[in-house]
Amino acid sequence: MTRASWDPESLPDLTGRRYLVTGSTAGLGFFSSLQLAGAGARVIMTGRNPNRLVAARAAVLRQVPDAAVETMVLDTTNLGSIRAAAATARGRTGLDGLLLNAGIVHPPAERETTRDGRELVFATNVLGHYALAGELLPALATAHGRMVWVGSLSTAMWQYDPIDPELDNGYTAWRAYVQSKVATTALGFEADRRLRAAGIPVTSVVAHPGYAISGRTRGIVGVNEPSRGKRFADNLQAAFAQSKESGAWSLVRALVDSEIEGGEYWGPAGRTRGTPRAAVAPKITRDLDIAARLWNYCEHATRIPWPFDKLRKSKRR
Ligand SMILES: NC(=O)c1ccc[n+]([C@@H]2O[C@H](COP(=O)([O-])OP(=O)(O)OC[C@H]3O[C@@H](n4cnc5c(N)ncnc54)[C@H](OP(=O)(O)O)[C@@H]3O)[C@@H](O)[C@H]2O)c1
Repeated sequence: MTRASWDPESLPDLTGRRYLVTGSTAGLGFFSSLQLAGAGARVIMTGRNPNRLVAARAAVLRQVPDAAVETMVLDTTNLGSIRAAAATARGRTGLDGLLLNAGIVHPPAERETTRDGRELVFATNVLGHYALAGELLPALATAHGRMVWVGSLSTAMWQYDPIDPELDNGYTAWRAYVQSKVATTALGFEADRRLRAAGIPVTSVVAHPGYAISGRTRGIVGVNEPSRGKRFADNLQAAFAQSKESGAWSLVRALVDSEIEGGEYWGPAGRTRGTPRAAVAPKITRDLDIAARLWNYCEHATRIPWPFDKLRKSKRR
């Protein structure tokens, strides 16, 4: 399949491949899991809530009865939970892909912190994924796999403060979201540079879903049950919004298209909606100093250095 002919509704056969998705109980993570499973992949659906995980897995099985899906509790604000899930996932065979999707999309109006004292949105969207990707690097290297970080169009809509990633000062919900998504995107590119430099056979790609909303998404029991009011309001945005199912297309392509290279950025062809295509990332997310500063910040905050030295001897594919 070439870049031009990619059909998100008819993916290549993924039988024998193994993927882990964070935040797969709803939205883009659920539909990414469904699309991967539908193409024959083994999928580890993860989430912070066991009941929602059960409902999400059941919903996948209703649509793909022979799907090879398992569930694992993984809360991205909790380093213990991340370590435990990674140890279980790592203990088996290699991992072909890791979709770092979980996120707070509507941050709290007032600044909140995790039990580790980290700003909640930054912890959920950024620190947890930095830690998880580091913990799963050996499994990804075994399979010559790929990690995909989930960015956002919002990264081009507001300034980023490189001095204060967790917004100790001047917190607003919108700023917290943009801070987290600029950081996610910059880390995705920085990860690829570091993996290349270390000669580790894992690629890192960034993808964004455009603008994907639940009221434009089909109803699925236990997964997507928007109110009539939400449907009405979301349908007023039909000209530029798409379903979460379609939003997942760019994420899934970034994860499985063998022609995509590390360091690329992918999103919908119509920016907010459409089929996946290569996109241009905002300049700030390509800034080397900001990325290096963020990397050091995450390493220090999580105390999880990536095992580059251990893996250095593997060859990049
Ligand atoms: N939708 C868009 O238009 C859009 C645009 C740009 C980027 N994005 C990004 O895409 C990703 C998914 O967004 P979405 O629209 O699918 O959001 P969503 O429908 O709200 O789903 C978010 C998912 O993340 C999970 N999650 C939240 N906090 C978590 C935690 N601490 N640990 C583990 N899982 C957690 C949620 O789990 P629960 O079920 O437990 O709540 C849910 O499964 C986010 O990273 C978001 O920033 C979305």
